[in-house]
Amino acid sequence: MRTLLFCLTAILSFPLFAQREASIRIYPENGKHPISKHIYGHFAEHLGTCIYGGLWVGPTSGIPNTQGYRNDVLEALKKLQIPNLRWPGGCFADEYHWMDGIGAYENRPKMVNNNWGGTIEDNSFGTHEFLNLCELLGTEPYISANAGSGTVEEMAKWVEYVNSDGDSPMARLRRENGRDKAWKVKFWGVGNESWGCGGNMRPEYYADIYRRYSTYCRTYDGNRLFKIASGASDYDYNWTEVLMKNIGGRMDGLSLHYYTTTGWNGSKGSATGFNTDEYYWILGKCLEIEEVIRKHSEIMDKYDPEKKIGLMLDEWGTWWDEEPGTIRGHLFQQNTMRDAFVAALTLNIFHKYTDRLKMANIAQIVNVLQSMILTDGSKMTLTPTYHVFEMYKVHQDATHLPMDISCEKLVAGGNREVPAISASASRNAEGTIHITLANTDIDKSNNLSVTLDNTTIKNVSGRILTSPSINDHNTFENPGKVKPVSFSGAKLEKGKLNVTLPPKSIVVLELK
Ligand code: AHR
Repeated sequence: MRTLLFCLTAILSFPLFAQREASIRIYPENGKHPISKHIYGHFAEHLGTCIYGGLWVGPTSGIPNTQGYRNDVLEALKKLQIPNLRWPGGCFADEYHWMDGIGAYENRPKMVNNNWGGTIEDNSFGTHEFLNLCELLGTEPYISANAGSGTVEEMAKWVEYVNSDGDSPMARLRRENGRDKAWKVKFWGVGNESWGCGGNMRPEYYADIYRRYSTYCRTYDGNRLFKIASGASDYDYNWTEVLMKNIGGRMDGLSLHYYTTTGWNGSKGSATGFNTDEYYWILGKCLEIEEVIRKHSEIMDKYDPEKKIGLMLDEWGTWWDEEPGTIRGHLFQQNTMRDAFVAALTLNIFHKYTDRLKMANIAQIVNVLQSMILTDGSKMTLTPTYHVFEMYKVHQDATHLPMDISCEKLVAGGNREVPAISASASRNAEGTIHITLANTDIDKSNNLSVTLDNTTIKNVSGRILTSPSINDHNTFENPGKVKPVSFSGAKLEKGKLNVTLPPKSIVVLELK
């Protein structure tokens, strides 16, 4: 009898030990800044099978397609409400000569993709194919133009080709190639990673290059361009300082790149085979992006206190070893619940800095690094990261609502700590409040109480993304292993909102 009682007590009390407590207080009345939808931007480079095979199979392919774009990928991407798409690189951008990618396919010259595995690029996906894709997706194009190996004239003519509606030489050439109306592209990058693959320049030199190239990127028919300078990598604050000082108001945006990885030398670790310590360490590394954004923003504030220049984090995401058996240099990696957490935590951070952070682009959209979608021939699967973007899309252009979070910290190895709870809230134009939550703890659930100042909530519903193991991922054979389902762990009791977050879970709540 005694043994039985002991066992019963142990069973009943187990959930208490396996549970953490946390609280969130949201201040809806203090919400000031819109979360720019452009923070949910994407990136498509001529790299591996991102473009060829991933987005584009060509109109004669046996894979079902619309004008050459694969239907399964198009349909999935439409559901993400992609606000902007950056193209053609990346490092590829500074070796890309846009005139090679227009006109009849058979006349387009081939080139070697020197950055990414020496693959032969046949230029069958060029300016028209990219901009038509953007139209199909209802997304704004962001063209990253060649300032590393291209000429000023080449860049100037690209802008004219794409944006001029008049009787100009480049507009005429575009019409000869089958497109009457200009696309009116607003976002233009002047080079990419100019401190590295984009020319190995010093910041002082690049500042002058930017001033020169951008001068000839003209406004056509009132379409004022949003010009983006090639920005710093991670912790290179000097690059930001020099560009702010020497370019200043001549740029509309300054980019920044930050990858969550174990390091640039040697192995970056397996995308799927990692242990608990490695999981927490990576979350700690991912959270460091907040300090990086803050420090670059502080430098920008010094030169631009009115925050007219946007910080554009136009490459971010996880970077692991390439999958065994795939082509070196093609950066094809799997995507697990750990990647989903990196996406969820990073997006929650971005929302806090939207007064300065005006755009972010996860790298990359299909088949490269932390992608939304993986394809293999005619097969495709959505990744856990896709599901986070789909769940979080409710924040696009909504007003960010400040909050205080009180929760335990988990030790992540070294000096790193990972808060057990990551959260963000926003209110959309209809007055609906959305809260995104992540319980980073692998083992323990979290009993979270949520207070909303001066706000009456009548109804709460939600969805959850979780899986038995943090290493879980979707495969072509089992594409539905990790996917969001309806969430019933949020309860309204006497106007109070209590949420029980299972271990390793990501949740979106809708409050009306
Ligand atoms: O996204 C892959 C590469 O990472 C990009 O081409 C480059 O800009 C960065 O180093």
